[in-house]
This record gives sequence, structure tokens and C-alpha cells, in this order.
Amino acid sequence: MVELKYPNKVNIYEVGPRDGLQNEKKIIPTKIKVALIDMLTSCNFKEIEIGSFVSPKWVPQMQDSLEVDRLIKKKKNIKYPILVPNLKGLEKAIAENIKTICVFTTASESFSKKNTNCTVTQSLKRIEKIIYLANKNGIKTRGYISCVMGCPYEGSISFSKTANICKELNDLGCYEISLGDTIGVGTPIDTFKMLDQVLKYINIKNLAVHFHDTYGQALSNILASLQKGIFKIDSSIGGLGGCPFAKGAKGNVATEDVVFMLNGMNISTGLTLKNIVKISKFIFKYLEREPSSRVTNALR
Ligand code: HMG
Ligand code: MG
Repeated sequence: MVELKYPNKVNIYEVGPRDGLQNEKKIIPTKIKVALIDMLTSCNFKEIEIGSFVSPKWVPQMQDSLEVDRLIKKKKNIKYPILVPNLKGLEKAIAENIKTICVFTTASESFSKKNTNCTVTQSLKRIEKIIYLANKNGIKTRGYISCVMGCPYEGSISFSKTANICKELNDLGCYEISLGDTIGVGTPIDTFKMLDQVLKYINIKNLAVHFHDTYGQALSNILASLQKGIFKIDSSIGGLGGCPFAKGAKGNVATEDVVFMLNGMNISTGLTLKNIVKISKFIFKYLEREPSSRVTNALR
């Protein structure tokens, strides 16, 4: 048997309250979002993306992110990043004393237009200004790249393009870059090839992977990423999620499914499966549907 090396420990970055809920059609009351985040806090998640300061015309579900930030019970050792698309969003973050923001761009020109109404070059220019001001205000910036292995409008994406955008975000000063397979079309071999390109430019410590599970490839892609040495994984409670501007995009990989797999591989996450399943049941009970997580459904 071939022995593969895996990291001993993995950092789970929880995106449920933002990437998970942003796609929900019915507006969710602020108190439900706050309860969800407080439960995640009490479960020992170290990074919870709690919302976004984007245009409410574009993503109405996130219009109460400021209130959410004010109402949640924060713990000192936990990061509560907020997604920011432009200087207007950053100004809110500065006024609110947010410590970590996330910026986002993409490897696809068409997706850039649909998601942020600008070209990739324009989005990088926006990001440059955001990071400059964020740094001046002591705010750390995480970067996202969407469509790293495929685009809903353009189809396949060149992995060298993904790698070049990644290098640009790194050069601009993102402390971490999350590689998003927005519509979940990548397979493990694509993941190897894409990471090979990206790792030419970026230290593995500064990379995270962000898989949506549209075609059921997310866990396999995570396994492939672990084999490459990646140890930061974005996931969403219950498998909530999707992107309003990526037709057909399904939820992110479910946090409890990732933790179940990592538990089985003796890779530590600092999280307890049964507590995560409880949170998953809570939010899906509110949404009045079954979670897409296989683990939560199996443990019913
Ligand atoms: P625009 O329409 O070109 O910009 O949108 P605008 O400057 O003309 O603004 C339009 C209106 O929005 C104006 O209001 C602005 O004031 C307001 P009006 O004058 O008409 O009343 N506005 C704002 N309001 C609050 N906060 C702001 C803000 N900015 C403008 N920050 C813009 C450009 C970038 C604003 C828009 O396209 C936008 O908000 N896009 C965000 C889209 C989004 O949130 N997508 C989902 C997140 S990305 C994702 O999910 C992928 C990821 O998970 C990784 C992966 O899976 O691949 C990260
Ligand atoms: Mg996403």
C-alpha cells in the first residue's frame, strides 16, 4: 500500500452564516443568524465568516450584517471576518472596528461582471485600494478567488490564470487566499493540477480551499488538497450555500462531513462532531428542509 502524508491538524473556516445563507430566498431574521453564529462560537470554531457589507440591492439577505456583527457574542481568540466588495463596504468595516475582512475576485471575466459588475482588472484595482486602507486601519485581509476550476458562463478555466490571480492577491497583501470552486465542477485530478500551478507562487501556509459540492466532488477534492499539504478548509454547516450569481451553484461542502472524514483520518480539527450536527439541525429546522450533509442525515 502506498503511504500518503497528511497534515496532523486542519483549520476549518466556517462560511455558513455568509456563503451559506446569502443564497436563501426568504429573508432570515437577524436573531436566527445571531443564534447560529453564537452556537458556532460555543463549538470552538476559530474562524466564522459572519456576513458581508455588499450592496443590499445585489444580495438582500446580507443587508443586516452590521446588526449581526453588533449582536453576536464574540470571543477574543475567534476571528469573525466580513466580506467586502468595495471601499463603501470597507468604510463600514472600519467604522465597526472589524478586525478581518475578505475581498473577492475571480479567474473568470464573465463571472466578475455578473458578481461585481466589473472586469477582473478593475476588481484587482478595487482590492488594491481596499487593502491599502485596511492595512492603515489595522485590518487584515483574506482573499477569495472564484471559478478556480470552472465558470458557469465560460466553462473551463485555465489553471495558470487562477495561479496568476492568486499571485496578484498575494502580492497585494492578502494574508490568506481561498481557492473557490464556485460551481463544484473540479475533480481530484483538476485539484492536483490547479494546486501545482498555484503552489509555484504561494506558500502553502497562505492557502485555503473552498469547494462547493454541486457534483459531489468536494470531499474527494479536499482529500486531494490534503495530499498536496493544504491544511485550511472552508466549509459550511449542513452544506448550506450557493452563489446568487453562479447559476446552478449548490451548497458548500458540509462542515460535519469534512469533520467526519478528518476524524476518520486522525486529523485534528478541535471540533466535536455531535455539536456541529446539533447546529446543522437547528438551522435546517428553521429553513424547513433537510440539510445536504450526509453525516447529519445519517445520524438522525
Ligand atoms: P454596482 O451596482 O456596480 O455599484 O455594484 P454601485 O456603486 O453603482 O452601487 C449600486 C447601489 O449599491 C448603490 O445604491 C450603492 O450605494 C449601493 P443606490 O445609490 O442605487 O441606492 N452599494 C452598497 N451598499 C452597501 N454596501 C456596499 C455597497 N456598494 C454599493 N458595499 C457591487 C457593485 C460590488 C457593490 C455589487 O456588485 C455587489 O455588492 N456585489 C456583491 C455580490 C456578492 O455578494 N456575491 C456573493 C459573494 S462572492 C461568493 O459568494 C463567492 C465566494 O464564496 C467564493 C466562491 O465560492 O467562489 C467568496
Ligand atoms: Mg463560495
